[in-house]
Amino acid sequence: MIRCYSISVLAGCCVVAALATAGCNHVSAQASDPAREQVSLTGSELYGACAACHGASGEGNAAVRAPRIGGLPSWYIASELQRFQHNLRGKHPDDADGLRMRAMARQLFSDAEVAAVAEYVSQLVPVSTAASLTAGDMASGEALYAECASCHGARGEGDEQLRTPPLAGRDDWYIDKQIRKFRAGVRGTAAGDELGRQMQAVAATIDADSIQHVSAYLHTLSR
Ligand code: HEC
Ligand code: HEC
Repeated sequence: MIRCYSISVLAGCCVVAALATAGCNHVSAQASDPAREQVSLTGSELYGACAACHGASGEGNAAVRAPRIGGLPSWYIASELQRFQHNLRGKHPDDADGLRMRAMARQLFSDAEVAAVAEYVSQLVPVSTAASLTAGDMASGEALYAECASCHGARGEGDEQLRTPPLAGRDDWYIDKQIRKFRAGVRGTAAGDELGRQMQAVAATIDADSIQHVSAYLHTLSR
């Protein structure tokens, strides 16, 4: 398992990992020593504040609209936390859930704390969550997903180089909600959010029914 403690070395670490996985721990440990010294709390301790909404195993809680995050790649978790911190996500006045999460991300003190909690969350083994979009049509969802695969991967595995998150096996209600937020310009329209804008442009072309079809389909894909 790749362990990266500092966001600044994360990209380099993973490039190294792609070239020679064995070298990663060594390189990241060396490069991140100064950043690690800034970690005042461990990932596990930091996660205590997250568990209230995301659950002890990162399994999420639909009642508070907090998605399952356990087992997501650490690069994505860290990147989103920083995007919340820097107002690229969760600042739109109509984004009630994003606003709540943005406030939480801003409690993290440093990049090193972001990296530590992201690493901890990525190691959590999440329980499966039940499907909730019972009206989703799998065949339509699968057909639509062909338009997504070039960025999110053939099996919805995500792509670190393109900085697209995994979608396979995710909470259907969360995926559905996010696509609707992109479509409505509530996510992906903040000044400077080039990544979100890519997804916003795609979402703008999807009709409302298809959103639940593709979200229901994605829930059936194995992680
Ligand atoms: C008060 C409840 C609450 C707490 C506490 C909380 N979150 Fe969240 N989190 C949410 C909600 C709600 C969302 C969904 C935001 C949205 O709809 O855009 C979210 C979204 C996220 C996402 C984005 C997931 C994705 O797929 O893009 C990450 C990562 C995350 N939270 C990590 C954390 C971490 C790490 C902590 C602790 C430092 C934390 N959260 C604490 C409520 C919370
Ligand atoms: C041009 C590349 C591209 C295509 C095509 C694309 N996406 Fe995305 N998508 C992205 C990027 C980049 C992000 C990350 C945005 C961010 O970090 O806020 C993203 C984020 C998402 C998210 C947010 C997930 C989360 O954890 O919050 C969902 C859901 C999503 N995409 C669904 C889809 C679906 C469904 C399709 C096909 C209909 C699709 N995407 C096609 C680039 C793309």
